[in-house]
Amino acid sequence: MASKTSILCLLFSLLSLLQLHRSTAQTMVKGGYWFPASGFPASSINSTLFTHLFCAFADLDPSTNKVTISSQNANAFSTFTTTVQQKNPSVKTLLSIGGGSSNMTQYSSMASQASSRKAFIDSSITVARSNGFYGLDLDWEYPTTTTDMTNFGTLLTEWRAAVANESRNSGKAALNLTAAVYYASRIYGLSYSVSSISASLDWINAMAYDFYGPGWSQVTRLPAQLYDPGSQYNGDYGVVDWIQAGLSAKKIVLGFPFYGYAWRLVNANNHGLFAATSGAATAGDGSMGYNQIRQVIANGATKAYNSTYVGDYCYVNTTWIGYDDTPTISTKVSYAKGKGLLGYFAWHVGVDYNWVLSQTASQTWGS
Ligand SMILES: *[C@@H]1O[C@H](CO)[C@@H](O)[C@H](O)[C@H]1NC(C)=O
Ligand SMILES: *[C@@H]1O[C@H](CO)[C@@H](O)[C@H](O)[C@H]1NC(C)=O
Ligand SMILES: *[C@@H]1O[C@H](CO)[C@@H](O)[C@H](O)[C@H]1NC(C)=O
Ligand SMILES: *[C@@H]1O[C@H](CO)[C@@H](O)[C@H](O)[C@H]1NC(C)=O
Ligand SMILES: *[C@@H]1O[C@H](CO)[C@@H](O)[C@H](O)[C@H]1NC(C)=O
Ligand SMILES: *[C@@H]1O[C@H](CO)[C@@H](O)[C@H](O)[C@H]1NC(C)=O
Repeated sequence: MASKTSILCLLFSLLSLLQLHRSTAQTMVKGGYWFPASGFPASSINSTLFTHLFCAFADLDPSTNKVTISSQNANAFSTFTTTVQQKNPSVKTLLSIGGGSSNMTQYSSMASQASSRKAFIDSSITVARSNGFYGLDLDWEYPTTTTDMTNFGTLLTEWRAAVANESRNSGKAALNLTAAVYYASRIYGLSYSVSSISASLDWINAMAYDFYGPGWSQVTRLPAQLYDPGSQYNGDYGVVDWIQAGLSAKKIVLGFPFYGYAWRLVNANNHGLFAATSGAATAGDGSMGYNQIRQVIANGATKAYNSTYVGDYCYVNTTWIGYDDTPTISTKVSYAKGKGLLGYFAWHVGVDYNWVLSQTASQTWGS
């Protein structure tokens, strides 16, 4: 009797140990990219609002195919992890490689040969470890051919094998491996290798934004809309597509922008969606950080939220800005949680306004 009880006790404690292990292994991603070129210091990030922070960007040296950190970023990157862990000791950091302004031809070339892939992979691991990062994030924007897509899959497979090997050799937990990817798995006649992604990456960051901007839409549109009954340019389309293509929802992290785009209205009185415009309302591509948009609102712009598409906009005189405000962020985060996704990420944390969007996102997701 006594021994039966103790065996039962042992069983129960084993079970609860397993349970504990399971629950600590369950992760969520409340992610944000930090982009030092924005001038926002890492020490000012309210890291309590994030589980994962992406340090953006490390570069690819096209002559050696090695991952490098530019000299102007060297110090900020090597201290990034300790800096953001001061406010939140459990926040995890990933070194992000590439980005929207990197040269995609060089990624294409690197991924096309076994020797250059190896140079890239081995150096990425060395750079991540020597700078104290918890993981690596590839932002190849974007693979543009079927061959690129095949090579992207091969690169990921080899990268995971190398990361696992390094973990065995070093006795350290394996680096997390992620990639920022098109919002849908099949797009512009291209398809990601979902089986390679599934087997090799811990998760993907689906860039569900930049659907519309003054440079590529003549009429006002919501740049990061979650839904659209009339087109496939929306976040929901992408998430459903990734899942239908075979990627587990638990490997999908939904991205949203902490910026918007400003158009110049042709007629100040025609300020709804699909209104005629004459291009960007600011210099460049019309993009504006949320902190700047808040300034426009403080100066008297009228705000609106469209729950059909899920996106905010504001307008004053002939300026019209489409962006993500708190109603959009909370709707998207609820959507991500409801779909069973791993989490969400924002590009980029330095343009939030008093942590309003980050706080909305974190509170909406909960713990
Ligand atoms: C950071 O976020 C936490 C959690 O929402 C909040 O309590 C704190 O006031 C924020 N800190 C700053 C400096 O905004
Ligand atoms: C991108 O890289 C390729 C190969 O290194 C180079 O030929 C090309 O000029 C670069 N393009 C830009 C826009 O810098
Ligand atoms: C595995 O690690 C060892 C020791 O660091 C290294 O020599 C070897 O090249 C690695 N193999 C792969 C496939 O990365
Ligand atoms: C990140 O890597 C750690 C250590 O290898 C692993 O335990 C964890 O499950 C990974 N995170 C995710 C979300 O896959
Ligand atoms: C969103 O905008 C579209 C296009 O103007 C309109 O038809 C729809 O009624 C709006 N939805 C809401 C909830 O206002
Ligand atoms: C809008 O136009 C009015 C009248 O011309 C002007 O006084 C105001 O400063 C303008 N507002 C903004 C935000 O440009």
